[in-house]
Amino acid sequence: TNTTSPFPEGFLWGGATAANQIEGAYNQDGKGLSVQDVLPHGLRSPRTPAPTPDNLKLEAIDFYHHYAEDIALFAEMGFKVFRFSIAWSRIFPNGDDKEPNEAGLAFYDRVLDELEKHGIEALVTLSHYETPLHLADAYGGWTDRRLINLYERYARTLLERYGSRVKYWLTFNEINSLVHEPFMSAGIPETEQLTEQDLYQAMHHELVASARATRIAREVAPNAKIGCMIIAMPIYPLSPSPQDAAAVMDLDHSNLAFGDVHTRGAYPGYFLRALKEKGIELNITDEDRTDLTNTVDFVSFSYYQSVAHTSDPAKLIRGEGNIMGGVPNPTLEASEWGWQIDPIGLRLVINQFWDRWQKPLFIVENGFGAKDQLVDINGVKTVIDDYRIAYLNDHLVQVGEGIADGADVIGYTSWGCIDLVSATTAQLSKRYGYIYVDRNDDGSGSLERFKKKSFDWYAEVIRTNGATL
Ligand code: BG6
Repeated sequence: TNTTSPFPEGFLWGGATAANQIEGAYNQDGKGLSVQDVLPHGLRSPRTPAPTPDNLKLEAIDFYHHYAEDIALFAEMGFKVFRFSIAWSRIFPNGDDKEPNEAGLAFYDRVLDELEKHGIEALVTLSHYETPLHLADAYGGWTDRRLINLYERYARTLLERYGSRVKYWLTFNEINSLVHEPFMSAGIPETEQLTEQDLYQAMHHELVASARATRIAREVAPNAKIGCMIIAMPIYPLSPSPQDAAAVMDLDHSNLAFGDVHTRGAYPGYFLRALKEKGIELNITDEDRTDLTNTVDFVSFSYYQSVAHTSDPAKLIRGEGNIMGGVPNPTLEASEWGWQIDPIGLRLVINQFWDRWQKPLFIVENGFGAKDQLVDINGVKTVIDDYRIAYLNDHLVQVGEGIADGADVIGYTSWGCIDLVSATTAQLSKRYGYIYVDRNDDGSGSLERFKKKSFDWYAEVIRTNGATL
């Protein structure tokens, strides 16, 4: 044991990915299309009617065929856990099929075999921005209540098949993104007829579906731990005025509501009030209310950035990084993509979530998207990514502070532990990995993998259980 590290023994160090951003093989072995297969340029550009060759996700980094090699590299870094998602459309190609696709299920068996071989725990996301396209086109995505049952069938299939092998499960990636990114997050076509009423009803359907997955897990996979997954974003008042503080509280509530429902089993009063003031009335059945009482075992979240907020509409400018609302914070630097860098914010959210929910916390995404330069050092290709090491180191120091503050943080999986296709911009040049993948935005590249400088740095952090931070 190491007495200089605040990280507890058994802390789950690892990395995180999502199926649509790594797997490729978008139409192999019976896989159906997902919303990502028609979003070639990310969430700021319109969907295409069918997959187009400029969509990097169709091949991504071809994890579908490289998984053994990639998992071996994760093992070399000493990963204790690997977060990945299962592509719903690999298991139920249309989303509403009666029977699952065995070839799709078999792929994840092979991935789990490989993880077990290396003693790496699996952390599986059931739905990570990859709703089957048919459910978007024929149902309107999560606006349709029938998706609850379709998701239940999918969740049951996975929990029955892998429940004894996978200990940690997340029901929906960043569930609070639905109202901001309807199509990518929830397969909801962004037409002119789409109303806020529709969006919040869809949110309700996902919350019920999430709770049902928890209920099913209790039945069929008693050892599984189920978590919700939300975007964590500390919000600072732009000025010390009480009006700004109140605006911050309201915006914060609009995010916290998702954790509140998942941990307490019912909608909080402030949220019902906000809906009422928007003129929104949710259709909540008695069965829904009962379902919602199936609360999670742990709370997981992504953390990249913080924002500021103000009550003054004249000062509300929309920057690149503030997709959840708020305004850029004048005291912070930002990444090339406008995401503001704020390690201390991570300690703040750890404390806020722990104080509020008293559930184990799992940081399942954090990282720095940057353009990397592949260089040749004595015949070895690598990337000298000191900027990434600095970002991750500063954030992990604050995780240690949060643990020292008393929070029960059980693990940390940095985002994109191997380079992958970006969710917001669909680029490969926005890289997060410890492992460089030779593939470029124009689709060229050998798909060869190279270790970056951060690879050895992270291996050392894990080996010392955080004592080298
Ligand atoms: C999170 C998503 O919002 O941010 C990931 O869960 C995504 O899927 C990550 O990749 C980073 O965003 P981006 O746009 O840089 O890929």
